[in-house]
Amino acid sequence: MNILSPSILAADFYRLGQQIREAEEAGAGYLHFDVMDGLFVPSISFGMPVLSSLRKSTKMFLDVHLMIQEPERYIEDFACCGADLINFHLEAAQDATAVIHRIREQGKKVGITIKPVTAPEAVAPYLKLVDMVLVMTVEPGFGGQKLIPYCLDKVRAIRRMAEEQGLDTDIEVDGGIHRENIRLALEAGANVIVAGSAVFHGNVTENVRGLLDQMK
Ligand code: DX5
Ligand code: ZN
Repeated sequence: MNILSPSILAADFYRLGQQIREAEEAGAGYLHFDVMDGLFVPSISFGMPVLSSLRKSTKMFLDVHLMIQEPERYIEDFACCGADLINFHLEAAQDATAVIHRIREQGKKVGITIKPVTAPEAVAPYLKLVDMVLVMTVEPGFGGQKLIPYCLDKVRAIRRMAEEQGLDTDIEVDGGIHRENIRLALEAGANVIVAGSAVFHGNVTENVRGLLDQMK
């Protein structure tokens, strides 16, 4: 199933609740929550208190993307604050298998994430253990960048690997996705689509409907 996961990094935080309701009512399935620590990526975004508030106010599936060094330090915190799925970067973890198990112990879905520079083969040892692979289509750290086309070849390679192993792994793409290129991501094999600026800049309802039209 194809799912749209609006990234609230691009939202207007003064109107966050309203914008989330608009996205949900227009048909978005997930909500993408970008956590940045100023170390793994240069920028700093938001963390546990904001996630807790969201959890209290929406039933939407919360897709948390940890862009933090040594994610093992914060798995329990994000699980307790209401994440439904926790994505962590393979590049940031000392022992990825241990992090995967730690997320599972919390009863949450598990995603592994790779930056543009990381080869698709890096996910191979973990494919059977995870629910999702998040393939970054921009350098993580900022919204509003342009999609890097070769990252879609990585999506194709990972979809092939999963199929060869008989796995129905979710493949999520994140960064620079908009109405004009979303089909390319789906055709490459992605089925969960993150969109920040393409959802929250302008009219949220129209933006979500426009993206979903392309996802049919
Ligand atoms: C970038 C974040 C993305 C970002 C996407 O590090 O992981 O989720 O918010 O924003 P757009 O869709 O504007 O590229
Ligand atoms: Zn993200």
